[in-house]
Amino acid sequence: MGALRNKSILVGVTGSIAAYKAAEIVRLLRKKKAIVYPIMTKAATHFLSPLTLQNLASQKVTLKLFSRDIRKAEHLSLAELADACLIAPATANIIGKIANGIADDILTTIVLATKAPVLLAPAMNNMMYENPILQRNIGSLKAIGFKFIGPARGDLADGKIGLGRMTEPQEIVECLEKVMQSRDDFLGKAFVVTAGPTREPLDRVRFFSNYSSGKMGYALAEEGASRGARIVLISGPTSLDPPSGVEFHWVESAREMHKMVKEKMGEADGIVMSAAVSDYAPARKENGKIKKTTQKKFILELVQNPDILKELGQRKENKILVGFCAETKDLEKEALRKLKEKSLDLIVANNITEEGAGFKGDTNIVTLINNKGKVEHLSRRSKREVARVIWDKIREMIENRGL
Ligand code: CTP
Repeated sequence: MGALRNKSILVGVTGSIAAYKAAEIVRLLRKKKAIVYPIMTKAATHFLSPLTLQNLASQKVTLKLFSRDIRKAEHLSLAELADACLIAPATANIIGKIANGIADDILTTIVLATKAPVLLAPAMNNMMYENPILQRNIGSLKAIGFKFIGPARGDLADGKIGLGRMTEPQEIVECLEKVMQSRDDFLGKAFVVTAGPTREPLDRVRFFSNYSSGKMGYALAEEGASRGARIVLISGPTSLDPPSGVEFHWVESAREMHKMVKEKMGEADGIVMSAAVSDYAPARKENGKIKKTTQKKFILELVQNPDILKELGQRKENKILVGFCAETKDLEKEALRKLKEKSLDLIVANNITEEGAGFKGDTNIVTLINNKGKVEHLSRRSKREVARVIWDKIREMIENRGL
């Protein structure tokens, strides 16, 4: 039932004659609306052209561990965005490497770094498959949660019949779908997520804003959608691409965000308000451009914007309200005050003066406080990881309330 829809699936292809079947796997995954990231080992490229996979997947094929761009640790970003990693075909060599913690190419490095489930579809000669070393490796991987699909008994590449043939693509995709189904813990739920800064116009050419990049909110939207939630992402101006599989609305000012949130909250089970909403806006927007005068001082009148979250808290019904707060001091005290004032269920607080936390970067260091006053500190981790924990907490609340 659409368990693969919008899921980021890494498809690792290794050097076996069955590599040509990976093309069919990618095609089937795309048909099920998965976002497919092919990764090929060097040996795999002898059996299948990267161009074939690239065309079928509509994504770049990753082939190397080191790219020229030193800012990009591709293996880490792929490891992190993955909802699942499928290695098909999986040779005895890759199984041996993974089982022994070897990370000497892009695929093994990703497997070592990812928290997503890893599924392997072995393909090899029956003598290799039956070898006790390989069986030991498979056993130790199964013991730590890796899943094996097949192999099947049938015609092998050397003309013999035996156990070692890769399971057919259709069956592999069905197995993966079943694994993903068990992770669709937000199916049937709808959430509004807000992200980014707001821009408060002063005249035709100027505005007030803040340094929010929107990364945290986009990570929340992506994570929620990948777990089956219907996500409406309301974003202030950012330089990020809208995530796939979410309903996306672009707004500028706090007032526009306020209007859009009101419009979209009716049907939602809750909101995760990660936008950095400006508290004040210029009282008037000049039609043209404000010109410099001879006066040395420029006094600007600001008026307060609506507090979107507070307003939602005042007529909360049974909706789940999650707020954020970025502070420079008194983190917990301030977070607790906002949690109470806005009748929130959870507040995610970060001290933006800390290295690795806050607006711009890819990581965050947050403290979670729930409506029972339980405080939880999370060490520095990627924004996607933080998003995962936040959705886990929301899941718990949904269960506790029997929603
Ligand atoms: N928020 C909101 N509407 C506003 C201001 C903030 O919905 N006009 C939301 C933010 O999206 C965030 C939470 O309220 O989820 C806390 O925002 P924050 O800016 O930290 O707090 P403020 O209420 O603005 O309080 P202060 O200015 O004292 O920090």
